[in-house]
Amino acid sequence: MSLISSEMPQKLLAWYEVHRRDLPWRRDPTPYRVWVSEVMLQQTQVDTVIPYYQRFLSRFPELADLARARLEEVLPLWSGLGYYRRARDLHAAARKISSEHGGQFPRDRDQVLALPGIGPYTAGAVLSLAFNLPEPVLDGNVERVLTRLLALPGNPRQSANVRRLREEARGLIPAGRAGDFNQALMELGALICLPLGPRCLDCPLAGLCRARRRGQPERFPEKKPAKKTVPVSLAVLVIERDGKLLLENRPPALEGGQPAYLRGLWNFPALEVEDPEQPPYQLSEAIRARWGAAIRISCRLGSARHSITFRKITLHVWRGEVDGHPSPASKTRPGRVPHLAWRWARPEELGSRYAVPSLAWKVLGLLQKPFSGPRGSAAFPKKPPGKPARAAPPDPESGRPP
Ligand code: ADE
Repeated sequence: MSLISSEMPQKLLAWYEVHRRDLPWRRDPTPYRVWVSEVMLQQTQVDTVIPYYQRFLSRFPELADLARARLEEVLPLWSGLGYYRRARDLHAAARKISSEHGGQFPRDRDQVLALPGIGPYTAGAVLSLAFNLPEPVLDGNVERVLTRLLALPGNPRQSANVRRLREEARGLIPAGRAGDFNQALMELGALICLPLGPRCLDCPLAGLCRARRRGQPERFPEKKPAKKTVPVSLAVLVIERDGKLLLENRPPALEGGQPAYLRGLWNFPALEVEDPEQPPYQLSEAIRARWGAAIRISCRLGSARHSITFRKITLHVWRGEVDGHPSPASKTRPGRVPHLAWRWARPEELGSRYAVPSLAWKVLGLLQKPFSGPRGSAAFPKKPPGKPARAAPPDPESGRPP
């Protein structure tokens, strides 16, 4: 028996009719379009997502276009959004839908949940928003709205509370209006029922809200204990030759060099170190061993901070000079061969041709002097539009780091 008034859905839907934002994924909400938007929105704010979404949909208008593409064509479109794991899973799931479901996004919940990167939240979102099936969605916004309506004590992510909130959300869905109702709940959380300073005077549900009746809506949801953070020192080597920068791509399965959370992307050679004051000779030695190029570490460029999930990383950036004009021994094309690859990349290719981790922009920022490109021009690329919404929470669906 729910403690939320049965008047709630109609009040919420009436408010949504008037106040809904005109967002690109709400026009023509096909399963594919809804799915892409929900994956992008998982850890990134709406304003940031919009240009990425539009770019992605114009490059891959249909699921079949995404399934046909190579991963290397997909990842650069994610550059700047962070959490590349989401893009890899999206691509793998599109291929699975093509091969196992005849290219049609499945309507069956278990089949949807069997797709890479799709957990209960994304499944509920696609099934309700695109197919109008009565499935609940429980993202951070919805969790907050329901927790306040109920004045639910305790951590809302704790399993008994998750079950309770999902059942409340399911029980409130009005017949035939699952999509609008779920969007409306998310919208209320995003625009009115804010984490700090909720706008109760504008809220259509204020009269039904137990947390408000107690005079302290902001006390809900109750705070979770903060996650422990781990400090990391990462030495990074910037090596330029003829206006190009040396990047490496180390596949996830290959040990050594780039730490696991950076593998699979193009990045400056980097290594976790114990003593950040020492030049990273291990890195220059690894490059010499790999393709015979002697690298001289010439100076320290500076340091910067960057967070990835629970890691608080300090980047220690060094400049290396390469003697002579060696070419990388590995001539593998990106993605073709599952082992280490090297490239000399023009700065403007970072984030466009080569998918780079967000910390690469901070490394570039430390090269204060105009880049000594072939024509002596300053050719620094800008970080792509937008930035990840927050430093780096784990993936809500899998709990994995990006
Ligand atoms: N956040 C997550 N999903 C959303 C959606 N469909 N619309 C607006 N914000 C969202």
